[in-house]
Amino acid sequence: MRLEETRSRLAAWLDSAPASAARRLIESGTSSPEWLASRLTTVTEDPESSAGIVPAIEEARRRAGGAPEDGSIERWLLVHQAAQLLDTPGFARLGGACCRLTCGELASLLEDDDATRRMLAVSGIRFREFAKMATGRRFSAGLFHWDICGVSRTWLARVPPRDLLGFTHAVARMGGIKPVMFPHINPRRASPHLTEPAISASLAAMAETLDRWAELRGFAAASWLRSPDTHRVSPHLAAVNAPIVAGGGFVTTVGPAAPDCGVLERSTTRTQSYRSGSFTPTIGLVLWPRRDMLRWWRSHPELMPAEAA
Ligand SMILES: CC(C)(COP(=O)(O)OP(=O)(O)OC[C@H]1O[C@@H](n2cnc3c(N)ncnc32)[C@H](O)[C@@H]1OP(=O)(O)O)[C@@H](O)C(=O)NCCC(=O)NCCS
Repeated sequence: MRLEETRSRLAAWLDSAPASAARRLIESGTSSPEWLASRLTTVTEDPESSAGIVPAIEEARRRAGGAPEDGSIERWLLVHQAAQLLDTPGFARLGGACCRLTCGELASLLEDDDATRRMLAVSGIRFREFAKMATGRRFSAGLFHWDICGVSRTWLARVPPRDLLGFTHAVARMGGIKPVMFPHINPRRASPHLTEPAISASLAAMAETLDRWAELRGFAAASWLRSPDTHRVSPHLAAVNAPIVAGGGFVTTVGPAAPDCGVLERSTTRTQSYRSGSFTPTIGLVLWPRRDMLRWWRSHPELMPAEAA
């Protein structure tokens, strides 16, 4: 969705009767709506991070005579912050694809169906992800969302000796360990499976933003999903690293992955292999230095938006 359309849709909703009603609900509590919305900047994927905002919303509902948990307060807070975000210099640094995709997700906050209302519950992970997005700390690239972080120093200690040289070389090519783009699976992606062409399209959307955002040193990912050990058992998942490997990226492992981290959740093959002892989940680490990622992107004009090609 285009930036201008998103801006006008969010603004129109903030002027609407449901938005005014939600605002009045927040005013029933002890926190002002604007102050409470500003607290979204401290919310992360970690449940503890919303420990301050959850009681404030519950208190407002209680003081309003037991207002229903219908997501209306959460929606107002997120839309209020998102409307401000669209005009910030940080948002202007997004490439066209990430801008359109992130705008689409922010505009989806206005959808008034049961699924959206449930998703907005302040105690849930979707609310926390949206809090990051509405405050310019998480962006959409389609199949993957991404945020900005650094390569953890603790990973260095866990790189197998055979890969230390490659790791050091990749970090040197990045010119430092932060800031880098870090991907997350988009929980509301179109297909449940991680397949092409959505993988490359998503990486291309990130590369387009990387090109405009000079401080970013590249891309780093760490997950069971990225591990060559996982790909030996589930070869189809090697597709998530394939464009990166082909584009000069570096892949290693950084120690065991906890069996309850999600690796066994969807796959009978991985579960059976784990139980039989033939699969030990590990965390895969991927580093893709900026210039390699951009070279890959430029060598795939079919993945470039028309205006960038
Ligand atoms: C990460 C995740 C989205 C990948 O999903 P995926 O692309 O479908 O790949 P999976 O290997 O998990 O697929 C699960 C099953 O669907 C099958 N499958 C995968 N792609 C398929 C496709 N395109 N069509 C049909 N079946 C497919 C797989 O073969 C696998 O079957 P199995 O029981 O024989 O192993 C999924 O595993 C998941 O949601 N995991 C739990 C959450 C999690 O850990 N997320 C964090 C990751 S960083």
